[in-house]
Amino acid sequence: TILIVDFGSQVTQLIARRVREAGVYCEIVPFAKAKEGYERLKPKAVILSGSPASVTEADGPRAPDEILNSGKPIFGICYGEQVICHQMGGKVEPGNDREFGRAQLEVIESCRLFDGLWQAGDAPQVWMSHGDRVTAIPPGFRVVATSPGAPFAAIANDEKRIYAVQFHPEVVHTPDGAKLISRFVHEVADCKADWTMHAFREAEIARIRAQVGKGRVICGLSGGVDSSVVAVLLHEAIGDQLTCVFVDTGMMRAGEAEEVVTLFRDHYNIRLIHSDASTLFLDKLAGVTDPESKRKIIGATFIDVFEQEAKAIGGADFLAQGTLYPDVIESVSFSGGPSVTIKSHHNVGGLPARMRMQLVEPLRELFKDEVRALGRELGLPAAFVGRHPFPGPGLAIRIPGDITFEKLEILRKADRIYLEEIRKAGLYDEIWQAFAVLLPVRTVGVMGDGRTYDQVCGLRAVTSVDGMTADSYPFEHAFLSRVATRIINEVKGINRVVYDITSKPPGTIEWE
Ligand code: XMP
Repeated sequence: TILIVDFGSQVTQLIARRVREAGVYCEIVPFAKAKEGYERLKPKAVILSGSPASVTEADGPRAPDEILNSGKPIFGICYGEQVICHQMGGKVEPGNDREFGRAQLEVIESCRLFDGLWQAGDAPQVWMSHGDRVTAIPPGFRVVATSPGAPFAAIANDEKRIYAVQFHPEVVHTPDGAKLISRFVHEVADCKADWTMHAFREAEIARIRAQVGKGRVICGLSGGVDSSVVAVLLHEAIGDQLTCVFVDTGMMRAGEAEEVVTLFRDHYNIRLIHSDASTLFLDKLAGVTDPESKRKIIGATFIDVFEQEAKAIGGADFLAQGTLYPDVIESVSFSGGPSVTIKSHHNVGGLPARMRMQLVEPLRELFKDEVRALGRELGLPAAFVGRHPFPGPGLAIRIPGDITFEKLEILRKADRIYLEEIRKAGLYDEIWQAFAVLLPVRTVGVMGDGRTYDQVCGLRAVTSVDGMTADSYPFEHAFLSRVATRIINEVKGINRVVYDITSKPPGTIEWE
């Protein structure tokens, strides 16, 4: 295990992803709890993250001396280097010229961290982002690389196995960064590459059995990747002690509800209750136009239906949830100010606290890409595992204004054509999320000899890494024309198609 001490950098999670891609398990702990985390995890090595803070300030975050003096291998990244220098006898000064962006490193000496990757004279590209600068390094260290803005761009103490770099090896703009992190965990820290989804599957099945015993587990299945992987993993562990409940809100895409039932009930033989509550959801949503109200109604109705189904099967002892690692990492915040709710992301799989069941959360150690790998390991179809994210409230937030069954049907048809064309063009996996929206606007058109007065369909497709920021996907014009022609010809009720070129921010991915 590797311990990653988080000083609040935006990209600390990327360090963890790179360590795990190197086949080594790691956990992120906020700096204020670093000592506890160190004692609990007994890591083979420690990585110190970046930070927006400054070590030159009296209350700037510090690393516990227990860690710095532990004799374990340590890798300091950006602020992590400054912490090592500041606390181990070097010097850091506030920088006047901030260095940000691509920089060229000059490797001047070899060291255990670099061996086999970089040698003296190499000039690898790296990504810098720092304000303060190191002006003296601690005794026992030597400079192994410099850059125009950072004379101490990388420092090494081979004897103590402590290394530190001013640049960010965890981001893709440092092309050799993943290899450098891999070298640290394998060659410096001597960790074995034993973190694989195959090993995880075995270990997690044993853990689930130990936790659940002869108890009964209920799991809400949404058709998304996370809950699907939870269901298949649990079924493998405890068979018919598991019952899945699929609450069909009626807000799913074309053919999706049937797909879920076929895959899990018929293919995997999982006990599955398909609760078709679409009429109830439509009734509750009738006339509601405000996006937040729609989300709240859907979230509350979902919980009611789920609870009723749980009662109907005679109660369960455990509730399974697809909580992921990013949901449980405690974050470090230096802003402290109140944050604004842009959208209340009701995850409709959320646990109603009042159900008072114990939780089974077999994915809480995993990142999303690891969940996908586990899904493939469990034999879920590749196309299913690679699906775009789909919001809990479904198509209800893709129809601005009030929701009716007729509008849902129109949108389902348009959306199906759009996704079909994206798949046909081989673009599906390049896009983070693509969908159609149905606008509450009518415009005039002409078809054949007649005048039409129908609704507008908006097309959205974005690229993104984590959904927090996004760019509109640059389709070829011919592709968009083809989709527009098909939608207008094949979907009654739509006579105009527009493409949304807004990025996030300032837009959001969904329209509501
Ligand atoms: P936005 O629209 O906020 O979307 O840019 C970012 C990501 O979150 C998804 N999303 C939701 N997911 N319940 C969900 O489970 C919601 O209410 C919700 N709203 C947005 C959206 O699809 C995108 O992937």
